Amino acid sequence: MNKKHYYIKTFGCQMNVYDSERIANILETLGYSPANTPKAADLIIFNTCHIREKAAEKVFSDLGRAYNIKQERAEEGKDTIIGVMGCVVQAEDEQIAKRAPFVDFATGPLTYHRLPEILAKIGRKKGHPVIDTEFPVESKFDFLPENHSTGGCSYIAIQEGCNNFCTYCVVPYTRGVECSRPVEDVLTEAKRLVSEGTLEINLLGQNVNSYHGEDKNGKERNLAYLLREIAQIDGLQRIRYTTSYPADVDDDLVACHHDLKQLMPYLHLPIQSGSDKILKAMNRRHNSADYLRVVEKLQNANPDLRMSSDFIVGFPGEDDADFQATLDIVNQVKFIQAFSFKYSRRAGTPAAVMKNQVEEKVKKERLDILQDLLFSYQRKFNEASVGKVMPVLFDMKGRHAGQLIGRTPYMQNLHAEIGKEFLNKIVNVKVTEATTNSLSGIKEG
Ligand code: SAH
Ligand code: SF4
Ligand code: F3S
Repeated sequence: MNKKHYYIKTFGCQMNVYDSERIANILETLGYSPANTPKAADLIIFNTCHIREKAAEKVFSDLGRAYNIKQERAEEGKDTIIGVMGCVVQAEDEQIAKRAPFVDFATGPLTYHRLPEILAKIGRKKGHPVIDTEFPVESKFDFLPENHSTGGCSYIAIQEGCNNFCTYCVVPYTRGVECSRPVEDVLTEAKRLVSEGTLEINLLGQNVNSYHGEDKNGKERNLAYLLREIAQIDGLQRIRYTTSYPADVDDDLVACHHDLKQLMPYLHLPIQSGSDKILKAMNRRHNSADYLRVVEKLQNANPDLRMSSDFIVGFPGEDDADFQATLDIVNQVKFIQAFSFKYSRRAGTPAAVMKNQVEEKVKKERLDILQDLLFSYQRKFNEASVGKVMPVLFDMKGRHAGQLIGRTPYMQNLHAEIGKEFLNKIVNVKVTEATTNSLSGIKEG
């Protein structure tokens, strides 16, 4: 029998990227291997994101295309299984069944460890989609096959779900309540990855700095404890963690930025808005002064530390003065990278039914202004890197032979003409050119 092939298309955040890798691990234990195109796949999976309307809608057009592929393959006598996974499933399982009845299975982000049973069920229940959107009592992490290092940089999910309930956000509904993996489980995974060649570990969670996993004695430990343990792994060069919630940055964590040389001098700490009125309406547990205080503490601990952030413009009730407060905070913190979005109304969240929604046209104008400002700081920071020598972890091949792409400590993308023997290595590079989005450089020495 021919080997079966899978194709996974991933939307959304790093957590979904991590989940997709773990889904691939499961499929490989079932005898599947990766396909280069959906057409070549016996199993097509969409790992979906529900965060904004656009992201969620995109899935339905992709599903339409997958259905055409399924039909084309059927004419060639080949079966195709189409599955939807991730956050859209948790929120819109009925919509999926209605709008895409040809889908064979749908399972949320917390139940994908059940994929082997789900695939077996499909075999038995032809024509009826298998849908699993339970918030399970068991942790999927206890059921996943071991993952392995695939290069210089690896992600480890350590925390999942969120109890913050920002009024615009679907995550607490799609990923459920916050829970943390035990310390030992994370350490075992980290040690295995490092022994297989990982040089950089990025700890992931929707609210990663509220980590509170149990150690082997059943004692709850915080993120700072976990970072200190991970920093002791021989051979590990770099540590990052993402995404953090400003109000949960404690002094212990701040101290890590002083004490741990492996902790990179770059932190993604979403503020969302510079207006205290809007932050309150968003149900964020910080105001702009709190945020600035946290940044100051972190930069006192490590003066090289630079910030990145997320912003939402056009949240209900945002007026010109509120938007100006957002621009003001950007001018104060001078974020070196940022993601910014127009507020998107998500059914079931409190902000979706707030009265004072902002017009689309105003949202767009504000986003353009904000992005111009953010990009100007990003560009300035990149330009100031020219002439400096930085350690770069090369983890991707570039477009042409001999080119590699890597990341500086500040998460800048850097391209270099450098032999492929440096793939998955950290190399000192002199930065020669900068644009808003990337750097170029040459190997030093
Ligand atoms: N847990 C992280 C981020 C989760 S989602 C945090 O709290 O910061 C990633 C980003 O998407 C958010 O930081 C926010 O800027 C954006 N986002 C979330 N819901 C949104 C919505 N309804 N409309 C527009 N942007 C949204
Ligand atoms: Fe969403 Fe807020 Fe939780 Fe982040 S902290 S995942 S924005 S509810
Ligand atoms: Fe999207 Fe779910 Fe991540 S909604 S941003 S994939 S947690």
